[in-house]
Amino acid sequence: MSNDAPAQEPKISIEHVYKIFGEDPQSVLPQVEAGADKREILEQTGHVIGIRDISLQIQPGETFVVMGLSGSGKSTLIRHVNRLIEPTAGQILIDGQDVLTLDEKQLRDLRRQKISMVFQKFALLPHRSVLSNVMYPLKVGGVSTDKAKAAAMEQIETVGLAGYEDRYPRHLSGGMQQRVGLARALATSGDVLLMDEAFSALDPLIRGDMQAQLKTLQAKLHKTIMFITHDLDEALLLGDHIAILNDGELRQVGTGEDILLNPADDYVARFVRDVNRGRVVTLATTARTPTTLSASDLSRDKLEQALTSVSEAVIVTDADGRPVAAVTEGHLHANRDKAEDWWRSPDNLPTPQTADETTVLAEILPLFAGSETPLAVVNSNGVLVGKMAAADALAALSNSD
Ligand SMILES: Nc1ncnc2c1ncn2[C@@H]1O[C@H](COP(=O)(O)OP(=O)(O)O)[C@@H](O)[C@H]1O
Ligand SMILES: [Mg+2]
Repeated sequence: MSNDAPAQEPKISIEHVYKIFGEDPQSVLPQVEAGADKREILEQTGHVIGIRDISLQIQPGETFVVMGLSGSGKSTLIRHVNRLIEPTAGQILIDGQDVLTLDEKQLRDLRRQKISMVFQKFALLPHRSVLSNVMYPLKVGGVSTDKAKAAAMEQIETVGLAGYEDRYPRHLSGGMQQRVGLARALATSGDVLLMDEAFSALDPLIRGDMQAQLKTLQAKLHKTIMFITHDLDEALLLGDHIAILNDGELRQVGTGEDILLNPADDYVARFVRDVNRGRVVTLATTARTPTTLSASDLSRDKLEQALTSVSEAVIVTDADGRPVAAVTEGHLHANRDKAEDWWRSPDNLPTPQTADETTVLAEILPLFAGSETPLAVVNSNGVLVGKMAAADALAALSNSD
């Protein structure tokens, strides 16, 4: 979809990273590199493979989700980004800089100024107020009290907790505590946000709220977010790109739609089998080639001719390629007495329903009710790029193809 996007430096680049836990990881590395599996390594050497040969790029301003079951290596992976964990092999670059080359001071600055982290357990300081919790990392980073307070209050408002700044964590629900954690992460000016199962411990309703709030915030802030989850629906909702981990290995990276439509292997296919495709799959990837007629070329004969080869409708386009009319066989018959001239004007013909190509299938299904004509699928300039009939939509929604 973004084939023509300009090349830019990734915000975070992870290159061939291995992490082996145990007494002497380096001694085991050659075996792991040669392909020995996790159980073999554990039985023969007592070492645990955390992650194996992971490479991925995270672009500035995107939400990149890493998804996998418990124990698949998600936390191990994300902790490499701010060097809470050092790799057994491989490189981690942030803005092109290798984090392993940073000295202590540079590393501290990285964690205070560039990257903030939100954990599953909210990790709030229990005997500090909400305000004080949110200010805390700023104060530690040497920001003056006034500035820290202003920045903290701004983020407390952003996450919808204005009025609670003097309360203590024990007075707050789990969802509110997690918002404090989020406000604290947002208050540092850092443009990278690491979120390790940040919503996983929340009740479903509150979790849905937080997901929606994160989406709204992100639409404004454009931070680079690395978001860990074991929940596929959450991954599909939040992720611009999704990486699927299994047993420390990367199975697939792509948009949610890529992964649903073209799973890389059986593991991924089984993983995504039961997901509601209608909420993810867009018209861009599923629309069919329409039969069209140029408005300047319009006549009853031309329409009739075109309709012999299609079952539903001919879409008439203007000089710019925008859909202006859609004609069905039924329409042709109902107006068979009209004069030649009448047929030449698209204004006399039914206006087609249009839908932007970025629309997901679930949203267009209601448009078919009471309509025989296919939807005209248009790009952001309103130019016709495809058609979608009810039958096409149903076929695209079925998991069998
Ligand atoms: N400090 C550690 N020592 C030994 N094994 C570890 C350590 N941390 C993680 N592991 C192992 O690495 C694998 C990946 O763990 P983790 O990254 O925590 O997975 P996830 O976050 O996906 O649940 C698991 O097999 C886990 O037991
Ligand atoms: Mg984890």
